[in-house]
Amino acid sequence: MDLGLRGRIALVTGASKGIGKAIARGLAAEGASVALAARTQSELETTAAAIHAETGSPTFAFPADLTRSEDADRLVAAVVERFGRLDILVNNAGAARGGVIERLTDEDWEAALQLKFLGYVRCVRAALPHMRRQGKGRVVNLIGNDGVKPSYWEIAPGAANAAGQNFTLSMAGQWGKENITFVAVNPGPVRTERWDGLVRAMARDMHISLEEAGKLAPRSIPIGRIAEPEEVADLVVFLASDRASFINGTMIEIDGGQQKPLMDSLRNG
Ligand SMILES: NC(=O)c1ccc[n+]([C@@H]2O[C@H](COP(=O)([O-])OP(=O)(O)OC[C@H]3O[C@@H](n4cnc5c(N)ncnc54)[C@H](OP(=O)(O)O)[C@@H]3O)[C@@H](O)[C@H]2O)c1
Repeated sequence: MDLGLRGRIALVTGASKGIGKAIARGLAAEGASVALAARTQSELETTAAAIHAETGSPTFAFPADLTRSEDADRLVAAVVERFGRLDILVNNAGAARGGVIERLTDEDWEAALQLKFLGYVRCVRAALPHMRRQGKGRVVNLIGNDGVKPSYWEIAPGAANAAGQNFTLSMAGQWGKENITFVAVNPGPVRTERWDGLVRAMARDMHISLEEAGKLAPRSIPIGRIAEPEEVADLVVFLASDRASFINGTMIEIDGGQQKPLMDSLRNG
């Protein structure tokens, strides 16, 4: 299937590693020009150069800390200056501490919303004027299945994700008439550095070994394993394309059918 992404201009946040890197690579492999954002300049530039070498598509690395509004504004302005337009925004830069209510401080809760929710709001706000001027735009928000499948151990990410999901659907309601469409992708556990950190925290909080903690999530997923970043990227690349043009204002879980209550009961057990 030709996704028709050749020549499209995409911005992927949190693109230096993990799921964002796989998405940036997937879009570039389909012929899109891809801007990549994250905080650590050296890692970002290495990733952008590797994707360009592998795919031949133009890439552009722009360091930005998306907890800051001015960075989101500068990022989007730089992408439009470099490529002339912005067709696709993939909001992906996010992180929030897992853990139970007894361990989470006010600062943890605020940090969870600051990047994972407000970071997405900031980038959408910066991109909208350009997409309106173009008469078209696509936003794919990488969120997380704990926004719709709650777990007591993921309450801070879950709250930030639920906010992001509400935001995605609300934006779709407002901007569809201008041909700017929004969709949320809700992964379950995906094999990235962030997941490794969550497993370490689970082991610490539950006083179990790393090996045991690593088995909890796969046991809660009927398929019996966690996802690879490329599996999430394939879905996002399709959703970013015009082939998915009527998919708007909705959310897609990509979690192998994970059952969070089962995961919680395994933790309790
Ligand atoms: N992995 C999972 O199991 C999983 C499950 C569900 C949902 N998700 C969601 O999927 C997304 C990607 O997760 P991942 O596991 O691929 O994460 P990851 O491997 O930790 O990568 C995070 C990316 O975001 C960048 N980043 C972090 N803080 C940033 C900031 N303040 N401003 C700009 N960029 C920032 C990082 O680079 P720098 O540190 O250099 O900035 C990196 O490029 C996140 O939104 C996450 O919540 C992940």
